[in-house]
Amino acid sequence: MICLGIESTAHTFGVGVFDGKARANEKAVYRTMGGIHPREASQFMCTHAAEVAEAALEKAGIGLGDVDAFAFAQGPGLGPCLRVGAAVGQALAGYYGKPVVGVNHCVAHIDVGKWNRKARDPLVAYVSGANTQILGLNGGRYRVYGETLDIGMGNALDVFGRSIGLEFPAGPAIEKLAAKGKKFHFLPYSVKGMDLAFAGLVTAASKSKIPRADLCHSFQETVFAMLVEVSERALAHTKKEELMLVGGVAQNKRLGAMLSQMAEEHGAKFFVPENQYNADNGLMIALTGWKMLRAKVRQGGLKTNQKWRTDEVAIAW
Ligand code: ATP
Ligand code: FE2
Repeated sequence: MICLGIESTAHTFGVGVFDGKARANEKAVYRTMGGIHPREASQFMCTHAAEVAEAALEKAGIGLGDVDAFAFAQGPGLGPCLRVGAAVGQALAGYYGKPVVGVNHCVAHIDVGKWNRKARDPLVAYVSGANTQILGLNGGRYRVYGETLDIGMGNALDVFGRSIGLEFPAGPAIEKLAAKGKKFHFLPYSVKGMDLAFAGLVTAASKSKIPRADLCHSFQETVFAMLVEVSERALAHTKKEELMLVGGVAQNKRLGAMLSQMAEEHGAKFFVPENQYNADNGLMIALTGWKMLRAKVRQGGLKTNQKWRTDEVAIAW
């Protein structure tokens, strides 16, 4: 079965082709100086949808008529952006008379990581722009052991980055500057039980007069340590033997090193997927859609859902 998956939750319009193997993973990414403007991002997607789909089909060496099923990211995400992928996916499936499934974006981040690194049953630190959750599969659902109470860690990095003049997304530039930082300065560290809060830290760092490299270093060490603390407690509680870091922020090498060290101290294996699968991408949607269809799973309806939580999805694949 050849499944074509469409990602369009926020800044990336991605198209992936999966048939048990990865055949294509193409994308166009919306960049901006401010935050993401939902209408402008969705306009960007409309403009680039056809060329990204064409590139993916060419990479996979197939035509649209060869596709057996379509999948699109149904949520969570920005409404106008979600509707672009939903419209494209449903229109193509309707035209070719093929099945179509809506995929949960967060579950797709986890599925693609497990597939990429051959992880079996990991505790997952899912850290991206809009999301920050510690998750583990238990009784057919990903349970949330801890999560952010305000913004996602990637958003925290991006908003702080904007305050020091960095372009969106700011994560990669902060990582580079942080590597040059030497002196650690204390910044607000906010862990509440198993949950995290970033807003106070962002405000304090944005107003700080600390030199840029030291500030980026201190910011990273602080947010990453908060995540390691709750992940460690979740690992001890669940006794999972694997820890996997996924999502856009998982591309950060320092975060990977900190979590990896913690996992090692608990005798757990540590995984982090390749960058192309951590950043938003179409292949992860194609892969989860493929798994759902193979397991004959259909989530209720095809309406987009901006606030679709990871723990609301019954995992039957
Ligand atoms: P989600 O819907 O899963 O929240 P998203 O729309 O935020 O996804 P992703 O591609 O998963 O998109 O994540 C983007 C985030 O990852 C941005 O906030 C960006 O700054 C951050 N990021 C990317 N590279 C790095 C890096 N090297 N270090 C830290 N953060 C990074
Ligand atoms: Fe994402």
